[in-house]
Amino acid sequence: MARLQIDAVSKKFDTDYAVREVSLDIADGEFMVLLGPSGCGKSTLLRMIAGLEQPSEGRILVDGTDVTDAPPQRRDVAMVFQSYALYPHLSVAKNIGFPLRARRRPRVEIERRVAQVSATLELSALLERRPGALSGGQRQRVALARAMVRDPGAFLMDEPLSNLDAKLRSATRAELIGLHERLGTTFLYVTHDQVEAMTMASRVALLDQGRVAQCGTPAELYDQPRSTFVAGFLGSPSMNLFPAVVTATEGRLRITGDGIDAALDITGDLPARTPVIAGIRPERLRLDAAATAVRGTIRLVENLGSEELVHIDAGATSLCARVARPAGVRVGERVAARVDPADIHLFDPDTGLRLRWQAPQLDSANAAHSVPVP
Ligand SMILES: Nc1ncnc2c1ncn2[C@@H]1O[C@H](COP(=O)(O)OP(=O)(O)O)[C@@H](O)[C@H]1O
Ligand SMILES: [Mg+2]
Repeated sequence: MARLQIDAVSKKFDTDYAVREVSLDIADGEFMVLLGPSGCGKSTLLRMIAGLEQPSEGRILVDGTDVTDAPPQRRDVAMVFQSYALYPHLSVAKNIGFPLRARRRPRVEIERRVAQVSATLELSALLERRPGALSGGQRQRVALARAMVRDPGAFLMDEPLSNLDAKLRSATRAELIGLHERLGTTFLYVTHDQVEAMTMASRVALLDQGRVAQCGTPAELYDQPRSTFVAGFLGSPSMNLFPAVVTATEGRLRITGDGIDAALDITGDLPARTPVIAGIRPERLRLDAAATAVRGTIRLVENLGSEELVHIDAGATSLCARVARPAGVRVGERVAARVDPADIHLFDPDTGLRLRWQAPQLDSANAAHSVPVP
Protein backbone atom coordinates (compact mmCIF):
# COMPACT_ATOMS: atom_id res chain seq x y z
CA MET A 1 0.00 0.00 0.00
CA ALA A 2 1.51 3.30 -0.94
CA ARG A 3 0.70 6.93 -1.52
CA LEU A 4 2.75 8.47 -4.33
CA GLN A 5 3.52 12.18 -4.26
CA ILE A 6 5.11 13.89 -7.20
CA ASP A 7 6.17 17.37 -6.19
CA ALA A 8 7.02 19.87 -8.95
CA VAL A 9 9.04 17.31 -10.88
CA SER A 10 10.81 18.29 -14.12
CA LYS A 11 13.13 16.34 -16.39
CA LYS A 12 15.44 17.97 -18.88
CA PHE A 13 17.24 16.00 -21.61
CA ASP A 14 20.01 18.16 -23.08
CA THR A 15 18.12 21.38 -23.73
CA ASP A 16 14.51 20.14 -23.85
CA TYR A 17 12.12 19.45 -21.01
CA ALA A 18 10.35 16.07 -21.32
CA VAL A 19 8.45 16.69 -18.06
CA ARG A 20 7.72 20.15 -16.68
CA GLU A 21 6.72 20.94 -13.10
CA VAL A 22 4.38 18.01 -12.68
CA SER A 23 2.70 17.71 -9.29
CA LEU A 24 0.39 14.80 -8.53
CA ASP A 25 -0.81 13.34 -5.26
CA ILE A 26 -1.88 9.74 -5.82
CA ALA A 27 -3.79 8.27 -2.92
CA ASP A 28 -3.12 4.80 -1.52
CA GLY A 29 -5.19 2.31 -3.51
CA GLU A 30 -5.99 4.67 -6.37
CA PHE A 31 -6.03 3.63 -10.05
CA MET A 32 -4.38 6.66 -11.63
CA VAL A 33 -3.87 6.81 -15.38
CA LEU A 34 -1.26 9.02 -17.06
CA LEU A 35 -2.73 9.74 -20.47
CA GLY A 36 -1.43 11.70 -23.42
CA PRO A 37 -0.15 11.61 -26.98
CA SER A 38 3.13 9.95 -27.89
CA GLY A 39 6.14 11.94 -26.69
CA CYS A 40 4.29 13.94 -24.00
CA GLY A 41 6.51 12.60 -21.19
CA LYS A 42 4.46 9.73 -19.72
CA SER A 43 7.24 7.12 -19.71
CA THR A 44 9.81 9.60 -18.45
CA LEU A 45 7.57 10.50 -15.50
CA LEU A 46 6.92 6.83 -14.69
CA ARG A 47 10.63 5.97 -14.94
CA MET A 48 11.47 8.77 -12.50
CA ILE A 49 8.98 7.33 -9.99
CA ALA A 50 10.51 3.86 -10.47
CA GLY A 51 13.99 5.29 -9.94
CA LEU A 52 15.20 4.47 -13.46
CA GLU A 53 15.60 8.15 -14.31
CA GLN A 54 16.75 11.02 -12.08
CA PRO A 55 14.54 14.16 -11.96
CA SER A 56 16.25 17.45 -12.92
CA GLU A 57 14.07 19.25 -10.37
CA GLY A 58 11.44 18.33 -7.80
CA ARG A 59 10.82 15.51 -5.33
CA ILE A 60 9.19 12.08 -5.33
CA LEU A 61 7.72 10.67 -2.14
CA VAL A 62 6.45 7.15 -1.46
CA ASP A 63 4.29 7.00 1.66
CA GLY A 64 5.73 10.30 2.83
CA THR A 65 9.38 9.20 2.45
CA ASP A 66 11.50 11.19 0.03
CA VAL A 67 12.90 8.63 -2.44
CA THR A 68 14.12 11.13 -5.06
CA ASP A 69 17.71 9.88 -4.67
CA ALA A 70 16.92 6.27 -3.70
CA PRO A 71 17.81 3.41 -6.10
CA PRO A 72 14.91 1.45 -7.70
CA GLN A 73 15.16 -1.52 -5.33
CA ARG A 74 14.78 0.77 -2.31
CA ARG A 75 11.40 2.03 -3.50
CA ASP A 76 8.27 0.09 -2.65
CA VAL A 77 7.12 0.03 -6.30
CA ALA A 78 7.19 -2.50 -9.15
CA MET A 79 7.25 -1.68 -12.83
CA VAL A 80 5.53 -3.57 -15.67
CA PHE A 81 6.89 -2.71 -19.11
CA GLN A 82 5.18 -2.67 -22.49
CA SER A 83 7.77 -5.14 -23.82
CA TYR A 84 7.23 -7.53 -20.83
CA ALA A 85 11.05 -7.89 -20.55
CA LEU A 86 10.84 -11.60 -19.65
CA TYR A 87 13.94 -13.82 -19.57
CA PRO A 88 13.52 -16.13 -22.60
CA HIS A 89 15.76 -18.92 -21.22
CA LEU A 90 13.92 -19.14 -17.89
CA SER A 91 10.65 -20.96 -17.20
CA VAL A 92 7.52 -19.01 -16.29
CA ALA A 93 8.00 -20.03 -12.64
CA LYS A 94 11.64 -18.81 -12.63
CA ASN A 95 10.64 -15.56 -14.34
CA ILE A 96 7.96 -14.90 -11.76
CA GLY A 97 10.21 -15.79 -8.83
CA PHE A 98 13.17 -13.75 -10.14
CA PRO A 99 12.70 -10.62 -7.97
CA LEU A 100 12.62 -12.79 -4.82
CA ARG A 101 15.68 -14.82 -5.86
CA ALA A 102 17.53 -11.58 -6.54
CA ARG A 103 16.70 -10.60 -2.94
CA ARG A 104 17.91 -14.00 -1.71
CA ARG A 105 14.60 -14.99 -0.16
CA PRO A 106 14.34 -18.59 1.15
CA ARG A 107 13.31 -21.19 -1.45
CA VAL A 108 10.11 -22.21 0.35
CA GLU A 109 8.96 -18.60 0.46
CA ILE A 110 9.69 -18.17 -3.26
CA GLU A 111 7.76 -21.31 -4.14
CA ARG A 112 4.80 -20.27 -1.99
CA ARG A 113 4.61 -16.74 -3.46
CA VAL A 114 5.01 -17.99 -7.05
CA ALA A 115 2.18 -20.47 -6.48
CA GLN A 116 -0.01 -17.73 -4.97
CA VAL A 117 0.38 -15.12 -7.70
CA SER A 118 0.20 -17.76 -10.46
CA ALA A 119 -3.15 -18.89 -9.08
CA THR A 120 -4.39 -15.27 -8.94
CA LEU A 121 -3.45 -14.69 -12.58
CA GLU A 122 -4.45 -18.19 -13.78
CA LEU A 123 -0.91 -19.14 -14.76
CA SER A 124 -0.58 -22.29 -12.62
CA ALA A 125 -0.79 -24.63 -15.62
CA LEU A 126 1.96 -22.76 -17.50
CA LEU A 127 4.71 -22.61 -14.88
CA GLU A 128 7.13 -24.99 -16.65
CA ARG A 129 6.88 -23.30 -20.07
CA ARG A 130 9.33 -20.83 -21.54
CA PRO A 131 8.02 -17.34 -22.51
CA GLY A 132 8.46 -18.24 -26.20
CA ALA A 133 5.70 -20.85 -25.87
CA LEU A 134 3.14 -18.35 -24.54
CA SER A 135 0.62 -16.08 -26.23
CA GLY A 136 0.94 -12.28 -25.92
CA GLY A 137 -1.76 -12.17 -23.28
CA GLN A 138 -0.10 -14.93 -21.25
CA ARG A 139 3.30 -13.19 -21.40
CA GLN A 140 1.65 -10.01 -20.23
CA ARG A 141 0.21 -11.87 -17.23
CA VAL A 142 3.65 -13.37 -16.43
CA ALA A 143 5.15 -9.86 -16.44
CA LEU A 144 2.37 -8.77 -14.10
CA ALA A 145 2.92 -11.81 -11.86
CA ARG A 146 6.63 -11.00 -11.63
CA ALA A 147 5.71 -7.48 -10.47
CA MET A 148 3.17 -8.85 -7.96
CA VAL A 149 5.43 -11.46 -6.39
CA ARG A 150 7.13 -8.93 -4.10
CA ASP A 151 3.79 -7.49 -2.96
CA PRO A 152 4.82 -3.89 -3.75
CA GLY A 153 3.01 -0.82 -2.46
CA ALA A 154 2.37 0.41 -5.99
CA PHE A 155 2.41 -0.93 -9.53
CA LEU A 156 3.79 1.25 -12.30
CA MET A 157 2.62 0.07 -15.72
CA ASP A 158 3.85 1.49 -19.01
CA GLU A 159 1.39 0.71 -21.82
CA PRO A 160 1.16 -2.96 -20.75
CA LEU A 161 -1.63 -3.76 -23.22
CA SER A 162 -0.27 -2.13 -26.35
CA ASN A 163 1.16 -5.38 -27.77
CA LEU A 164 -2.17 -7.20 -27.55
CA ASP A 165 -4.82 -7.41 -30.27
CA ALA A 166 -8.07 -5.49 -29.80
CA LYS A 167 -10.13 -8.37 -28.39
CA LEU A 168 -7.49 -9.46 -25.90
CA ARG A 169 -6.91 -5.84 -24.89
CA SER A 170 -10.50 -5.40 -23.89
CA ALA A 171 -10.52 -8.71 -21.95
CA THR A 172 -7.25 -7.81 -20.19
CA ARG A 173 -8.64 -4.35 -19.32
CA ALA A 174 -11.45 -6.04 -17.44
CA GLU A 175 -8.93 -8.38 -15.73
CA LEU A 176 -6.81 -5.44 -14.59
CA ILE A 177 -9.85 -3.68 -13.14
CA GLY A 178 -10.72 -6.86 -11.22
CA LEU A 179 -7.11 -7.30 -10.10
CA HIS A 180 -6.97 -3.75 -8.79
CA GLU A 181 -10.18 -4.30 -6.83
CA ARG A 182 -8.87 -7.56 -5.32
CA LEU A 183 -5.38 -6.29 -4.44
CA GLY A 184 -6.38 -2.77 -3.36
CA THR A 185 -2.86 -1.65 -4.35
CA THR A 186 -2.03 1.71 -5.91
CA PHE A 187 -1.89 1.49 -9.72
CA LEU A 188 -0.16 4.12 -11.83
CA TYR A 189 -0.87 3.23 -15.41
CA VAL A 190 0.50 4.90 -18.55
CA THR A 191 -1.38 4.83 -21.84
CA HIS A 192 -2.05 6.90 -24.95
CA ASP A 193 -5.41 5.12 -25.33
CA GLN A 194 -8.33 7.19 -24.10
CA VAL A 195 -10.60 4.14 -23.87
CA GLU A 196 -8.21 2.47 -21.41
CA ALA A 197 -8.09 5.68 -19.40
CA MET A 198 -11.85 6.22 -19.37
CA THR A 199 -12.68 2.61 -18.45
CA MET A 200 -10.02 1.84 -15.84
CA ALA A 201 -9.03 5.05 -14.08
CA SER A 202 -10.32 6.36 -10.80
CA ARG A 203 -8.51 9.55 -11.89
CA VAL A 204 -6.78 10.58 -15.09
CA ALA A 205 -3.85 12.99 -15.46
CA LEU A 206 -3.79 14.13 -19.08
CA LEU A 207 -0.32 15.32 -20.13
CA ASP A 208 0.41 17.81 -22.89
CA GLN A 209 4.08 18.46 -23.75
CA GLY A 210 5.30 17.43 -20.33
CA ARG A 211 2.71 19.36 -18.34
CA VAL A 212 -0.52 18.23 -16.66
CA ALA A 213 -3.30 19.63 -18.85
CA GLN A 214 -5.98 18.40 -16.43
CA CYS A 215 -6.28 15.91 -13.60
CA GLY A 216 -9.61 14.54 -12.44
CA THR A 217 -12.09 11.70 -12.77
CA PRO A 218 -12.77 10.48 -16.32
CA ALA A 219 -16.23 12.11 -16.12
CA GLU A 220 -14.76 15.45 -15.04
CA LEU A 221 -12.34 15.51 -17.95
CA TYR A 222 -15.02 14.48 -20.43
CA ASP A 223 -17.81 16.72 -19.16
CA GLN A 224 -15.80 19.72 -17.96
CA PRO A 225 -12.64 19.88 -20.10
CA ARG A 226 -10.41 22.64 -18.80
CA SER A 227 -9.07 23.56 -22.22
CA THR A 228 -9.53 22.95 -25.93
CA PHE A 229 -6.62 20.46 -25.72
CA VAL A 230 -8.48 18.30 -23.19
CA ALA A 231 -11.78 18.77 -25.06
CA GLY A 232 -10.21 17.63 -28.31
CA PHE A 233 -8.18 14.74 -26.86
CA LEU A 234 -11.04 12.88 -25.16
CA GLY A 235 -13.95 11.57 -27.19
CA SER A 236 -14.12 9.82 -30.53
CA PRO A 237 -14.90 11.41 -32.87
CA SER A 238 -13.57 14.42 -31.05
CA MET A 239 -15.56 17.43 -29.90
CA ASN A 240 -16.61 19.90 -32.59
CA LEU A 241 -14.63 23.07 -31.85
CA PHE A 242 -15.31 26.20 -33.88
CA PRO A 243 -15.00 29.98 -33.60
CA ALA A 244 -18.17 31.82 -32.60
CA VAL A 245 -19.26 34.96 -30.85
CA VAL A 246 -21.39 35.28 -27.76
CA THR A 247 -24.13 37.83 -28.28
CA ALA A 248 -26.37 39.28 -25.62
CA THR A 249 -29.91 40.49 -26.15
CA GLU A 250 -31.65 41.83 -23.06
CA GLY A 251 -29.41 39.73 -20.87
CA ARG A 252 -30.08 36.49 -22.78
CA LEU A 253 -26.98 34.99 -24.30
CA ARG A 254 -26.59 33.12 -27.58
CA ILE A 255 -23.65 31.86 -29.57
CA THR A 256 -23.52 32.82 -33.18
CA GLY A 257 -21.15 31.41 -35.76
CA ASP A 258 -21.18 30.67 -39.45
CA GLY A 259 -24.28 28.45 -39.86
CA ILE A 260 -24.94 28.41 -36.12
CA ASP A 261 -27.24 30.34 -33.81
CA ALA A 262 -27.91 28.64 -30.49
CA ALA A 263 -29.26 29.78 -27.15
CA LEU A 264 -27.08 29.52 -24.04
CA ASP A 265 -28.74 28.92 -20.70
CA ILE A 266 -26.89 31.66 -18.91
CA THR A 267 -27.83 35.24 -18.44
CA GLY A 268 -25.32 37.98 -17.91
CA ASP A 269 -23.77 41.05 -19.32
CA LEU A 270 -21.07 40.03 -21.75
CA PRO A 271 -19.61 42.73 -23.92
CA ALA A 272 -21.26 42.61 -27.35
CA ARG A 273 -19.65 40.17 -29.76
CA THR A 274 -17.31 38.42 -27.33
CA PRO A 275 -15.30 35.96 -29.43
CA VAL A 276 -15.10 32.38 -28.14
CA ILE A 277 -14.22 28.89 -29.25
CA ALA A 278 -17.44 26.90 -28.92
CA GLY A 279 -17.45 23.14 -28.39
CA ILE A 280 -20.22 20.60 -28.97
CA ARG A 281 -19.75 16.84 -28.68
CA PRO A 282 -20.93 14.89 -31.76
CA GLU A 283 -23.40 12.84 -29.68
CA ARG A 284 -25.01 16.06 -28.41
CA LEU A 285 -25.99 17.36 -31.85
CA ARG A 286 -29.45 16.04 -32.75
CA LEU A 287 -30.88 16.06 -36.25
CA ASP A 288 -34.27 17.76 -36.20
CA ALA A 289 -35.91 19.30 -39.27
CA ALA A 290 -37.59 21.95 -37.11
CA ALA A 291 -34.35 23.01 -35.40
CA THR A 292 -32.80 26.42 -35.94
CA ALA A 293 -29.49 26.10 -34.04
CA VAL A 294 -27.55 24.51 -36.90
CA ARG A 295 -28.50 24.67 -40.57
CA GLY A 296 -26.33 23.20 -43.27
CA THR A 297 -25.68 20.60 -45.94
CA ILE A 298 -24.61 17.00 -45.45
CA ARG A 299 -21.09 16.43 -46.76
CA LEU A 300 -20.52 12.83 -45.69
CA VAL A 301 -22.31 10.01 -43.87
CA GLU A 302 -20.14 7.34 -42.20
CA ASN A 303 -21.72 4.04 -41.20
CA LEU A 304 -20.27 2.72 -37.91
CA GLY A 305 -22.64 -0.23 -37.79
CA SER A 306 -24.51 0.73 -34.63
CA GLU A 307 -24.45 4.47 -35.36
CA GLU A 308 -23.80 6.94 -38.12
CA LEU A 309 -21.51 9.94 -38.24
CA VAL A 310 -23.19 12.73 -40.16
CA HIS A 311 -20.76 15.44 -41.32
CA ILE A 312 -22.47 18.77 -41.85
CA ASP A 313 -21.18 21.90 -43.57
CA ALA A 314 -22.93 24.74 -41.77
CA GLY A 315 -21.62 27.80 -43.58
CA ALA A 316 -17.86 27.69 -43.03
CA THR A 317 -18.29 25.55 -39.91
CA SER A 318 -17.77 21.79 -40.25
CA LEU A 319 -19.67 19.76 -37.67
CA CYS A 320 -19.99 16.06 -36.97
CA ALA A 321 -23.15 14.58 -35.46
CA ARG A 322 -23.20 11.05 -34.05
CA VAL A 323 -26.70 9.66 -34.44
CA ALA A 324 -28.60 6.37 -34.21
CA ARG A 325 -28.63 4.37 -37.42
CA PRO A 326 -30.28 4.69 -39.83
CA ALA A 327 -30.49 8.46 -39.66
CA GLY A 328 -32.31 8.50 -43.00
CA VAL A 329 -30.22 11.33 -44.43
CA ARG A 330 -28.15 11.59 -47.59
CA VAL A 331 -25.12 13.46 -48.81
CA GLY A 332 -26.08 16.80 -50.36
CA GLU A 333 -29.33 17.15 -48.42
CA ARG A 334 -30.15 20.21 -46.38
CA VAL A 335 -30.24 19.35 -42.68
CA ALA A 336 -30.99 21.04 -39.36
CA ALA A 337 -29.77 20.13 -35.88
CA ARG A 338 -30.42 21.27 -32.35
CA VAL A 339 -28.25 21.32 -29.26
CA ASP A 340 -29.18 21.58 -25.61
CA PRO A 341 -27.72 24.83 -24.16
CA ALA A 342 -26.10 22.79 -21.37
CA ASP A 343 -24.10 20.89 -24.01
CA ILE A 344 -22.27 23.91 -25.39
CA HIS A 345 -18.74 24.40 -24.03
CA LEU A 346 -17.05 27.79 -24.30
CA PHE A 347 -13.31 28.44 -24.42
CA ASP A 348 -11.16 31.56 -24.55
CA PRO A 349 -9.85 31.87 -28.13
CA ASP A 350 -6.51 33.29 -26.94
CA THR A 351 -5.62 30.90 -24.11
CA GLY A 352 -7.78 27.89 -25.07
CA LEU A 353 -8.97 27.75 -21.45
CA ARG A 354 -12.55 27.02 -20.48
CA LEU A 355 -14.77 30.01 -19.78
CA ARG A 356 -16.82 29.70 -16.63
CA TRP A 357 -20.51 29.60 -17.37
CA GLN A 358 -23.67 27.67 -16.48
CA ALA A 359 -22.19 24.43 -15.17
CA PRO A 360 -20.63 24.33 -11.69
CA GLN A 361 -16.92 23.59 -11.65
CA LEU A 362 -16.39 20.15 -10.14
CA ASP A 363 -12.82 20.18 -8.95
CA SER A 364 -10.66 22.89 -7.56
CA ALA A 365 -8.00 22.40 -10.24
CA ASN A 366 -10.59 23.35 -12.85
CA ALA A 367 -11.86 26.30 -10.88
CA ALA A 368 -8.37 27.69 -10.51
CA HIS A 369 -7.96 27.75 -14.26
CA SER A 370 -11.39 28.97 -15.30
CA VAL A 371 -11.87 32.50 -16.49
CA PRO A 372 -14.82 34.30 -14.96
CA VAL A 373 -17.43 35.74 -17.29
CA PRO A 374 -17.01 39.50 -16.94
N1 LIG B 1 16.89 9.23 -22.75
C1 LIG B 1 16.41 10.27 -23.45
N2 LIG B 1 17.24 11.18 -24.01
C2 LIG B 1 16.76 12.25 -24.69
N3 LIG B 1 15.46 12.49 -24.88
C3 LIG B 1 14.58 11.63 -24.36
C4 LIG B 1 14.99 10.48 -23.61
N4 LIG B 1 13.89 9.80 -23.21
C5 LIG B 1 12.83 10.50 -23.68
N5 LIG B 1 13.24 11.60 -24.36
C6 LIG B 1 12.35 12.60 -24.98
O1 LIG B 1 11.44 13.06 -23.99
C7 LIG B 1 10.15 13.24 -24.55
C8 LIG B 1 9.13 12.39 -23.80
O2 LIG B 1 9.39 11.04 -24.05
P1 LIG B 1 8.55 9.88 -23.34
O3 LIG B 1 8.55 10.11 -21.87
O4 LIG B 1 9.09 8.59 -23.82
O5 LIG B 1 7.09 10.13 -23.94
P2 LIG B 1 5.81 9.16 -23.96
O6 LIG B 1 6.07 7.99 -23.07
O7 LIG B 1 4.67 10.03 -23.48
O8 LIG B 1 5.61 8.76 -25.40
C9 LIG B 1 10.26 12.89 -26.02
O9 LIG B 1 10.45 14.08 -26.74
C10 LIG B 1 11.49 12.01 -26.07
O10 LIG B 1 12.11 12.09 -27.32
MG1 LIG C 1 6.13 5.95 -23.51
